[in-house]
Amino acid sequence: MSNYHIKHLEEYFQVYRKSVRNPESYWEEIAEEHFMWHKRWDNVLSYDFEKPEFKWFEGAKLNITENCIDRHLRTRGDKTAILFEPNNPDEEAQHISYNELHERVAKMANVLKSQGVKKGDRVCIYLPMIPELAVSVLACARIGAIHSVVFAGFSSTALATRINDSDCKLVITSDGSFRGSKTIDLKGIVDEGLKKCDSVETVLVVNRINAEIEMKEGRDQWLQPLLEKAETTCAPEIMDAEDPLFILYTSGSTGTPKGMVHTTAGYMVYSAFTFKNVFQYREDDVYWCTADIGWITGHSYIVYGPLANGATTVMFEGVPSYPDYGRFWEIVEKHKVTQFYTAPTAIRALAKENLEHVEKYDLTSLKVLGTVGEPINEEAWHWYDENIGKKKCPIVDTWWQTETGGIMISPIPYSTPAIPTFATLPLPGIQPALMDEEGNEIKGNQVDGRLCIKFPWPSMARTIWGNHQRYKDTYFSAFKNMYFTGDGALRDSVGYYRITGRVDDVVIVSGHNLGTAPIEDAINEHPAVAESAIVGYPHEVKGNALYGYVILKETGESRNQDNLRKEINQLISDRIGPIAKLDKIQFTNGLPKTRSGKIMRRILRKIASNDTSNLGDTSTLLNPEVVQEVMDNVIK
Ligand code: WT7
Repeated sequence: MSNYHIKHLEEYFQVYRKSVRNPESYWEEIAEEHFMWHKRWDNVLSYDFEKPEFKWFEGAKLNITENCIDRHLRTRGDKTAILFEPNNPDEEAQHISYNELHERVAKMANVLKSQGVKKGDRVCIYLPMIPELAVSVLACARIGAIHSVVFAGFSSTALATRINDSDCKLVITSDGSFRGSKTIDLKGIVDEGLKKCDSVETVLVVNRINAEIEMKEGRDQWLQPLLEKAETTCAPEIMDAEDPLFILYTSGSTGTPKGMVHTTAGYMVYSAFTFKNVFQYREDDVYWCTADIGWITGHSYIVYGPLANGATTVMFEGVPSYPDYGRFWEIVEKHKVTQFYTAPTAIRALAKENLEHVEKYDLTSLKVLGTVGEPINEEAWHWYDENIGKKKCPIVDTWWQTETGGIMISPIPYSTPAIPTFATLPLPGIQPALMDEEGNEIKGNQVDGRLCIKFPWPSMARTIWGNHQRYKDTYFSAFKNMYFTGDGALRDSVGYYRITGRVDDVVIVSGHNLGTAPIEDAINEHPAVAESAIVGYPHEVKGNALYGYVILKETGESRNQDNLRKEINQLISDRIGPIAKLDKIQFTNGLPKTRSGKIMRRILRKIASNDTSNLGDTSTLLNPEVVQEVMDNVIK
């Protein structure tokens, strides 16, 4: 039996039991056998759910990039570490070997050092999916700087909020990005954002699209000339196990984004362990995750997890629809991809297109298919299974979160029999619990409740940057001695979990986690808007789409409603990003409210979802008559 690599169901059960009976010795053995340490830990785990505080491998010294790069050089120096596939299929793919990655990371690390970046400093990375993105992430980790990657689809305001929240002193960006047939002026977005940021001293600019851009004297520098002059080796900074590795922002049900802080050792061990098992990675495999490194999926399962296992990881710059809807499958054929990991929303979008786009390509290299980010519906699951996996590839429906750092509930291919729409069983070390609203654990099978985790795991986020109280309130206050996920789930007769969706004011749109409050804040900035409420409703491609109820200050017919809708969506786009735009906007005179003045979103969700047969009890409302008005004017 191997703790690290599970190969069949019986082994899973044995390993799982062991991981629950004695978590510390379980993780200790894995940490000992599969990673490189400068000093061993004094203590595997200490924790306190009240504070809350969690420490894994305390006292250990390490550098994660030695584990992801240096230790592979002897045996896999010439193996491709990162396989870069550009946006444009006519541009050649780049095979970056472990040796080359080692050198590129060292050079970038030396450039950062020469710009005054030191251990513990925050560096914001705002780049498209090009090799420099992965290299920058690793270069920060090399010198102990804390990276904060901001998805390059976010607006200048969203970027500025994130830079200011963690006082980043340096930003790495590019002159622009390619996205399908479009180019995007990333540097312009950075310039706009930085008008509101005092902490940033330096902006390093990658030349990706050869754009004529403005370079601000004393602040902006082209990266290439600096890299050319940089030394090709860089001694790793020796980090403590619990030193922060990165901050990654995720939206919450209220206010500003939460800067989730992940630390070094536990994150490394767990992301590597889960990558190995969930994707059953073997030495010659070519693994491809289509996410962006701007999300946790990219951090854990494009960069750290795969590289810690010496894998070949594909990085794709483009979009599934360019130059046509066959692009993903063309890449699978071209690079003989063995594991393919994507989001249900991408599957649904591709399933709507002509099957010819799939059938043109040889997909026989595929062994394992994965999904992440939102519940996958049965239809999409079967389409994926039949047309992509040809019914020969296990599908792993992986449930996890930015906060969990790694996959928590997922089948293990060739071990766990899959059932469509079920994330199935917890991975070793993960102890889920379903809770009722009174705070009691619901035992037994065929039950549903709020999904919590009742024991610490190595890659859990340790705090929210600059706001430990919010960390406590959001995740550890709803249920005593438990981490609360914000999701609902059911457990079936054999103990499989099915995630039923968010139980808070977060909506998952195309696999992106969007808090409704920040969107409402953006809308309310519009001078004509008095109040608004955003809810999610089911959408056949996106999973959920956003529906906005907006009360105007003046209800006069004089304003053109279509123009207002455009202006509202423009505001959202500017403040957050295009992903948060509303699909439907209904202007209304009132919103159903409780006597304490809280908007009854439950009712608004049902109306937006066309599910008004049972609205529940509306008699406690302050203004029950509003419900009918809202229903009469619903946008279908
Ligand atoms: C939320 C976390 C984890 C990387 C991407 C999203 C939803 C995630 C699944 C799944 C059903 C899922 C949950 C979760 N979610 N995976 N397999 N089945 N729902 O990370 O942005 O932090 O969002 O995504 O609601 O809480 P995130």
